[in-house]
Amino acid sequence: MIQVKELEFVYQKSGKEAIRKIDFSIEQGEIFGFLGPSGAGKTTTQRILIGLLRGYEGNVLIMGKERRKWNNDFYEKVGVAFDFPNLYIKLTAQENLELISSYYQKKATNINALLDRVGLLADKDKKVESFSKGMKMRLNFIRSLMHDPDILFFDEPTSGLDPVNAKIIKDMIMELKGQGKTIFLTTHNMTVAEQLCDRVAFIVDGKIPVIDSPRELMVQHGRQTVRLDYYREGKEYSEEFPLKTIQENKHFFDILHKHQLKRIHSQEATLEDIFIKLTGRELA
Ligand SMILES: Nc1ncnc2c1ncn2[C@@H]1O[C@H](COP(=O)(O)OP(=O)(O)O)[C@@H](O)[C@H]1O
Ligand SMILES: [Mg+2]
Repeated sequence: MIQVKELEFVYQKSGKEAIRKIDFSIEQGEIFGFLGPSGAGKTTTQRILIGLLRGYEGNVLIMGKERRKWNNDFYEKVGVAFDFPNLYIKLTAQENLELISSYYQKKATNINALLDRVGLLADKDKKVESFSKGMKMRLNFIRSLMHDPDILFFDEPTSGLDPVNAKIIKDMIMELKGQGKTIFLTTHNMTVAEQLCDRVAFIVDGKIPVIDSPRELMVQHGRQTVRLDYYREGKEYSEEFPLKTIQENKHFFDILHKHQLKRIHSQEATLEDIFIKLTGRELA
């Protein structure tokens, strides 16, 4: 559905090289995530794919056609939820959705159901200017779905949402995948990447050093360990042992036999640990 080759982008005004030769492709029905810290180039890449930033180098093929060759029928096929909600604040939630729906050939038939799904049905007649950030985010999310697009772009879809609402959005993204939609999302949240993405690209400083499934990254780079916290001669010690070779670890069994334990704790590397290991950077 999406093929990106040697993509480069410079913000002309500042001369900032935001994207430095990245390559990736996204299959139909896949959830593909961009995981990286603030300023990595996630939003920039999405805006190029959507057609909001022009003047890129390299190739961006969307459904087989170079992005710059698409005309406005492109927007019938894609849905976008920006990182900052873009809504008409003087209109109510329902009026927003009705107006936005009127821009598309394929009209929404399920506005109330969508509002209900994200917990906004009771607020549908309130002006959006009275909405909290989280309410705007949820409205902004459903506005991207109404015309039943094939490809969806979500920029930080759960940012600013409490856990309950974040879960609703994550569940909806999984349902969209179930319907065969292709989904590109950006996040700096490793849990979102882990829970949702079939594959994830680590992005740092406009470059992508790694693309793989979260599961494969865990297998390749994650290290399960067991941590022992114990007492020896009145002092407290803590040691970590790789789980894989623990049967042969004499020192581990010595501690178990000889010393008073405070705690045994098994720990698995998180996607964030692997991100730090492979990029040398933190996600925050
Ligand atoms: N409109 C802009 N003009 C100039 N530089 C920008 C602009 N938008 C973003 N940048 C810069 O481009 C880089 C990538 O930004 P962005 O794509 O927004 O990152 P992310 O979404 O990963 O946080 C950052 O260094 C940012 O400061
Ligand atoms: Mg961003």
